[in-house]
Amino acid sequence: MAFQRRIFSGIQPTGNLHLGNYLGAVRNWVALQNDFECIFCMVDMHAITASLIDPDELRRSTRELACAMIASGIDPKKNILFNQSQNPDHATLAWVFNCVARMGWMNRMTQFKEKAGKDRENVSLGLFAYPALMAADILVYKATHVPVGEDQKQHIELTRDIAQKFNFDYQKEVFPLTEPQIFGTATRVMSLRDGTKKMSKSDASDQSRINLTDTADAIADKIKRAKTDPNPLPDSKEGLEGRPEAQNLLGIYAALSNKTMDQAIAECAGKGFAEFKKMLTEVAVSVLGPITAEMRRLMDDPGYVDGILRDGGERARALSAPVITEVYDTIGFLRP
Ligand code: TYM
Repeated sequence: MAFQRRIFSGIQPTGNLHLGNYLGAVRNWVALQNDFECIFCMVDMHAITASLIDPDELRRSTRELACAMIASGIDPKKNILFNQSQNPDHATLAWVFNCVARMGWMNRMTQFKEKAGKDRENVSLGLFAYPALMAADILVYKATHVPVGEDQKQHIELTRDIAQKFNFDYQKEVFPLTEPQIFGTATRVMSLRDGTKKMSKSDASDQSRINLTDTADAIADKIKRAKTDPNPLPDSKEGLEGRPEAQNLLGIYAALSNKTMDQAIAECAGKGFAEFKKMLTEVAVSVLGPITAEMRRLMDDPGYVDGILRDGGERARALSAPVITEVYDTIGFLRP
């Protein structure tokens, strides 16, 4: 069966949107939005899986993230932009998927292992079941494509496994086998303090990431203090081997200046880090500065943002309702 091409992607409203989220995901969403039907979601139900968040902080973060996405160029009229908890169909389908997914599959999820660490017995059941909710986020709209950063690839593969097993168990092609879309020069942006660690909202050090809320001075300071090595930048990709920080900073530079990695290497070959960091700061401030300014302007008008999210929630529920009806009928849940 041919499924209509539809894009879904989500982002957690925990802390700030950082450069990894922007380059690995949001910027690609902006590029896709004109050609496809897109649904973009602030996944607040995922945000409570890791630890307790102050309720006011969660509300603030959700609004701030929506502002960041609009400021980055997402058009909320053309696309659906909403927060996950507004549509209970995600949770309904997630329960069904909890009964489809196998413990063995979930046990293999590397992100769960990383997040749980040594404290496995003490993390929430929600953190373990998280990938089933993520599969539900996608499949409750029968989304065919999901643009994400590299770190979400395994979750999308699990989404395909769940769809396949559901279709097979009930002998009906209810769900598509969703494709991940991982593209651009920055599919995995690394920490500014350690080129072997992913840039992440949960890193204790704010110096490890550039946030979309950072001022130009903060960006300059973070880049200045970013970890490097003593050698000048190489003239080939091979020269980046074993130099994770150089590789990361050059990758960020290439992505922000819309160049390929080869072009960035050719431009920067032989330069010392002091000179290169000035170039990187300049491009980072020129790309992120206008987004930050627009975000601040939007944050001053919470009524506007809430109106967008309310409208997005309504449109999202209208799309998922027939899918839930189909799932109920397929499973045998009575709708008298
Ligand atoms: P989250 O909130 O951690 O990240 C949102 C998006 O940003 C990408 N990303 C990165 N890309 C490159 N380099 C990085 N350092 C980096 N850090 C984050 C992520 O790959 C993601 O695309 N589980 C998801 C949210 C989610 C979702 C979904 C995504 C829930 N349901 C359904 C897609 C479809 C997450 O925690 O993303």
